[in-house]
Amino acid sequence: MSAGAVIDQAQRRHGGQPVAVGRPVALLAELTHRCPLRCPYCSNPLELARASAELATEEWRRVFAEAAALGVLQVHLSGGEPAARKDLEVLVEAAETAGLYTNLITSGLLLDRGRVAALAAAGLQHVQLSLQGTRPEEAEEVAGLRGSHAMKMAFAAHVHDEGLPLTVNAVVHRRNLDRLDEIVAMALELGARRLEIAHVQYHGWAAVNRAALLPDRAQVAAADATVAAARAALSGRLAIDYVPPDQYAVRPKACMNGWGRQFLVLTPTGRVLPCHAAESLPGLDFPSVRDGSLEDIWYRSDAFMRYRGTGWMPEPCRSCDRREIDWGGCRCQAFALTGDAEATDPTCALSPHRGVLEGAGEGDDSAAFVHRTMGRVRGI
Ligand code: SF4
Ligand code: FES
Repeated sequence: MSAGAVIDQAQRRHGGQPVAVGRPVALLAELTHRCPLRCPYCSNPLELARASAELATEEWRRVFAEAAALGVLQVHLSGGEPAARKDLEVLVEAAETAGLYTNLITSGLLLDRGRVAALAAAGLQHVQLSLQGTRPEEAEEVAGLRGSHAMKMAFAAHVHDEGLPLTVNAVVHRRNLDRLDEIVAMALELGARRLEIAHVQYHGWAAVNRAALLPDRAQVAAADATVAAARAALSGRLAIDYVPPDQYAVRPKACMNGWGRQFLVLTPTGRVLPCHAAESLPGLDFPSVRDGSLEDIWYRSDAFMRYRGTGWMPEPCRSCDRREIDWGGCRCQAFALTGDAEATDPTCALSPHRGVLEGAGEGDDSAAFVHRTMGRVRGI
């Protein structure tokens, strides 16, 4: 058991085995589902929260204080677009006062020079800017908003002027993967110290666009080579995080570093989840910070206990020597592909369900994007 880990007496048994529960490290605060963009791989849930149902400023302030007391070190302020909240600067200050490291994950669209300066003054410590592409027309076709690329470029300049460290987040897919070298060059041009390259996860809205977004094997092989060359050439200048896509992997990733091991996700209305897509799983009741303390939810809620540890695992995970490395992969992907949240993630070549990954369909250059619709969500 790691330093600082605790075993709660009330939760010693799960699947017949004791479960060690460590302290959470990071809180992903989804401040709102509102967003000016309409990306075809949007990771917001299909059912979006109304602005009027969002946690109020003082509720977030309490959550940040509780998170810090629980051991959380970092808060990632995210969305939707977090800057759609008019009180973002106040929330940054509240997180900073609680002693949390603050990272803003943003599209950059709603933040002019004045707001970026105010965020820096409030104590913001790091910015992650999402890019939809490097060429305005193509990037805006993905984002579903004309003029958005230029706004992102202006935002990156404000971040640079304020001296805030910048990470560029690029979601890659069939339409832009061949231009990974341009994405690397743009990250350097914008003064980023880190580039996170993420393949689309085919849950929720992205599943609707699977054919348009799924790269083929040759594209992925070329991208692997581009990343290797860029890492070698830019060592010490630009850190590059890149995880190959599940579709061509033989073992799964440790999604969220394991269910309920390090991360808490708070939805805009205060529900506490082990991962951003957990509400897609059936039979789980996710408690709200409006009804209980974060500590109680982390250590004692059924939802966090359900897939903790290894006691819940079926074979082949149960007797696999990687079971405490990848923790059986992703529960949300397992459910999306097999209809069973306890199934071994089909990303694993040992999974009896591996066939559904290949059978889920090929990429198709002629498939059009179905852009995210915001439905009832209003208030930007
Ligand atoms: Fe991971 Fe389970 Fe596959 Fe083993 S069998 S590598 S634990 S997903
Ligand atoms: Fe939910 Fe992976 S996204 S467990």
